[in-house]
Amino acid sequence: MNLKDKIIKLKKEKKAVILAHNYQRSEIQDIADYIGDSIELSRKAMEEKDAELIVFAAVDFMAESAAILNPEKKVLIPSLGARCPMAQMLTTDEIKRYKIKYPKAPVVLYVNTLASSKALCDICCTSANAVEVVNSLKSNTILFGPDKNLADYVSEITGKKLITIPEWGFCPTHVLFQPEDVLILKMKHPNAVVMVHPECSSEMRKIANFVGSTSKMVKFSKKTTAKTIIVGTEKGLLYRLQKENPDKVFIMAYEDAVCPNMKLLTLDKIYSSLKNEKYVIKIPISVAKKARKALEKMFELNN
Ligand code: 13P
Ligand code: SF4
Repeated sequence: MNLKDKIIKLKKEKKAVILAHNYQRSEIQDIADYIGDSIELSRKAMEEKDAELIVFAAVDFMAESAAILNPEKKVLIPSLGARCPMAQMLTTDEIKRYKIKYPKAPVVLYVNTLASSKALCDICCTSANAVEVVNSLKSNTILFGPDKNLADYVSEITGKKLITIPEWGFCPTHVLFQPEDVLILKMKHPNAVVMVHPECSSEMRKIANFVGSTSKMVKFSKKTTAKTIIVGTEKGLLYRLQKENPDKVFIMAYEDAVCPNMKLLTLDKIYSSLKNEKYVIKIPISVAKKARKALEKMFELNN
């Protein structure tokens, strides 16, 4: 029996589900029960009433959110090294410092944060709903962390002042995209449209036809009449885009935009995770309770 079949068999025996982020390796996407962006995966984790085990094929903060929302379930991450560097950029001390400096400003945190940070915020957001979340708040000045590019994007759309914590937070993969590379590609493919993730720089957003989360990009790709699409996000998304749109051509805006943390997961690691039920995400109850409130507030807005 090959590894894929072994995983599928074990998954059934253990009543497990495999949730995979859009950036996962193609072979992992192929065996996943569900593929999506961060908000879709969190929602899916809550809906999986019958599952006894959730294997989260993504990075730490996404698996943590699933564990926070499903305290009665065992949530596994197949590699402890799969950590989002952007989430590590925000410390709880930094949040506390900014809260003292701006006592009236509500705190909105991107889900790309650790549970301990989420526990200190008023509401969470993802790149798919950040604009709605910020617009839902009465205050015109908001503390927002950790992604400066996402904060600038939301500020441009809402007209609100977003103070970023830390001032410089960024995704090491999305800052690799440069408008110069896209302009060269556009010379070769003049009819191509450009879609980018809001974690890209403002220069990239300016030349894009569409800005959105990974799943919004999936929807845009289906809807657009353009036959060639230049993609400004992590390379893993291309597999899904190409599979779902065989009549269209997808070109990476920068070929090497790979998130090494997402790519730490392999089929071997998924199998071992399922077999040995490791690594279990554990979050202190007091932290999980507070972080859960911030996540639930976000979900209330989307209902
Ligand atoms: P999405 O929520 O758009 O999938 O983004 C998550 C992420 O980590 C982007 O780098
Ligand atoms: Fe974190 Fe960037 Fe990787 Fe997304 S692509 S998980 S933000 S490092």
